Amino acid sequence: MTRKIVAGNWKMNLDYDEAKLLLKNLIASKDQFPSDVEVVICPSAPYISAFAEVLRDQDWISLGSQNNYFIDEGAFTGEISPKQLKSLGVKFGIVGHSERRDNFDEDYSMLSKKVKALLKHNVRPIFCCGEQLQVRDSNVYKEFVMKQIQDSLFKLKPEELAQLVIAYEPIWAIGTGKTATADQAQEIHHLIRSRIASEYNDKIANQVGIIYGGSCNADNAKELFSQKDIDGGLIGGASLKTESFTAIANSF
Ligand code: 13P
Repeated sequence: MTRKIVAGNWKMNLDYDEAKLLLKNLIASKDQFPSDVEVVICPSAPYISAFAEVLRDQDWISLGSQNNYFIDEGAFTGEISPKQLKSLGVKFGIVGHSERRDNFDEDYSMLSKKVKALLKHNVRPIFCCGEQLQVRDSNVYKEFVMKQIQDSLFKLKPEELAQLVIAYEPIWAIGTGKTATADQAQEIHHLIRSRIASEYNDKIANQVGIIYGGSCNADNAKELFSQKDIDGGLIGGASLKTESFTAIANSF
């Protein structure tokens, strides 16, 4: 299991024709993606089924979801079932993005259920954490992020936690063009890995991918990815263009 991961979070962007074109361009650029990097794209939910068909013979690129419910089936109008995602070949699932925590009141107990629901189907959660600007400025940001991790993840069994990707996404850096410095990001990534090592063990801590998100682009990815505990990126805006996404994947 490689720890190098570059995942594109397309968020609620692109109409269907635009999304299909981006997928087509990514596939045409296959040779430009390094073979030792796990490449993931997380398009809007309505596109997943058609994308899964197109990607059937493209095992170098994995499909991820942006959200899922924690129950497999039933009377939950509009929700996205983890079982259904699995049946489409989805391999990763973003859980706990700050945009969902803030806009849809997702709290730690819901997020831990969502993580568990994905793991039940062997879909690897990309669990997001990160602090607001006022938390960063008030200097309790380390405790804040550790609490997010601890509350939602530390009841998982060791073999479950080992499947996880954790995305550190400081909210003040998302979509703002203001990236965390490599030192700021490394500090938190190292802290997350150390906490996992003390709560579980070193082996598990080294299996978990810890990736950075927040205005990561072709210009700053190299410096970020050169840090010891930064295993790649969860990319928003820059994943919507083939050139920048390819360049980021080549930044290790
Ligand atoms: P941007 O790369 O657009 O800042 O978004 C980051 C993000 O939220 C990825 O999940």
